[in-house]
Amino acid sequence: MLKAALRRGVSKPSCLSSIRFSSSVAAQYFPNEPIKPQFVSETIPGPKSQALNNELGEVFDNRATYFVADYVNSLGNYISDVDGNKLLDVYCQIASIPLGYNNPALIEAAKSDDMLYAIIDRPALACFPSSNYKQILQEGILAAAPPGMTKVWTALSGSDANETAYKAAFMYQHAHKRGSLDFTHEELTSVMNNKAPGASDMVILSFDKGFHGRLFGSLSTTRSKAIHKLDIPAFPWPKAPFPALKYPLEEFKQENHAEEVKCLEEFERIIVEDYKPHSIAAIIVEPVQSEGGDNHATSFFFQGLRDITLKHEILMIVDEVQTGVGASGKFWAHEHWNLTTPPDMVSFSKKFQAAGFYFSNPELQPNQPYRQFNTWCGDPSKAIIARAIYQEVSKHGLVEKTAQVGDYLYDGLKQLVNKYSSKVSNLRGENYGTFIAWDCYDADVRNKVLLESRKRGVNIGGCGDVSIRLRPTLTFERKHAEILLQVLEDVFRVV
Ligand SMILES: Cc1ncc(COP(=O)(O)O)c(C=O)c1O
Repeated sequence: MLKAALRRGVSKPSCLSSIRFSSSVAAQYFPNEPIKPQFVSETIPGPKSQALNNELGEVFDNRATYFVADYVNSLGNYISDVDGNKLLDVYCQIASIPLGYNNPALIEAAKSDDMLYAIIDRPALACFPSSNYKQILQEGILAAAPPGMTKVWTALSGSDANETAYKAAFMYQHAHKRGSLDFTHEELTSVMNNKAPGASDMVILSFDKGFHGRLFGSLSTTRSKAIHKLDIPAFPWPKAPFPALKYPLEEFKQENHAEEVKCLEEFERIIVEDYKPHSIAAIIVEPVQSEGGDNHATSFFFQGLRDITLKHEILMIVDEVQTGVGASGKFWAHEHWNLTTPPDMVSFSKKFQAAGFYFSNPELQPNQPYRQFNTWCGDPSKAIIARAIYQEVSKHGLVEKTAQVGDYLYDGLKQLVNKYSSKVSNLRGENYGTFIAWDCYDADVRNKVLLESRKRGVNIGGCGDVSIRLRPTLTFERKHAEILLQVLEDVFRVV
């Protein structure tokens, strides 16, 4: 199969128009980027990959390994493996490579003096911040802040970003309840036994099929797969239904609207009937439920959530860990909603490399230091990289370019999904940049599509039970899309 693909090369699908490479940002960044996937070994993973992975397995759980990568020789949109195969990567380290492998601008940032000291003298940021931390934040993470957000709390991962947001929500709600009073003796003693009233009995509400991380608090709000949660103690927190939209959207407008109304009604019923007033501290919701299967909802649904949270004085956390930083065709996916008031907190990680949550209400900062705290409280080396990412994205208009290439890719996929409708369906992500997904007939077909794509030199990821999601870089262009479409056409034909 690989040899056949190699002999055949990857040609341009005849249905698609030719493109001009001169304006390509990818070509500026990566003049030596491969022009198509390259194969060296008969299989992927190849022999070197398998041998190295076996060795790694002696000390590290490597059972999820696709192949062992060669990051020195990966470039732009192509990931190299240790056997020398070069794959067009539309999975990108689980949606977290913003500007392509070995991007020269990020290499320059990595070689700066700011970076050197950030790495070797890593500060405990809340106690001994560096003289330039404010500047690094202002020129990067804060310059990219969603509309209405002026402050940030930096964290270590997507899960940590969400958990610190939950803590901010609990402390905010209890501060409101307590008013000007100090902590009581009972609170101070009961909390040391993990009991109310000192330990909060408030809850965070999340949505069916949502994914918010795998640490203890975030895992309690994760509802995508049982296997992620089994055997781990969980908070008894509520979940509300997330709309299950039918596709194509234009054919099911009424049904989908009715579904969203039903979900909003159930959401408000849970708040009003199942919980006492002010006992739900916050809700958390993804703009697209990514790990859970790339489930979308319309602006109407999200505006409805916002209205209901405001009505019941519940905080709204938007989890942009996977959707943030340009892939949706807006820098932040929730900008698609045009909310009448911004959410209370927006968490980020992945493509920004740095993690944390944005907010604007100063009361989301607890009333005393050390309550929202850990040793590092973020990582300035990652904030420096985030700054370089933001500056490159702005300089090259990469969000707008991603919106354009996404439209092109979506149109090509629409043709393929129509042609192979017995195997693939429910294409989603129209007008949503490259944040595109579709369903396969069943899990078996889905897994075959992933494997057959890799055999043809495209590294691609699944999500949910039967879905495939595209998560390329922001330097993914029409020339890459053409290769992807050609490979997918070949794959859909054979699975
Ligand atoms: C929406 C969302 N939230 C949170 C997380 C957790 O992030 P991390 O794996 O960095 O803890 C993920 C990871 O996939 C995610 O997709």
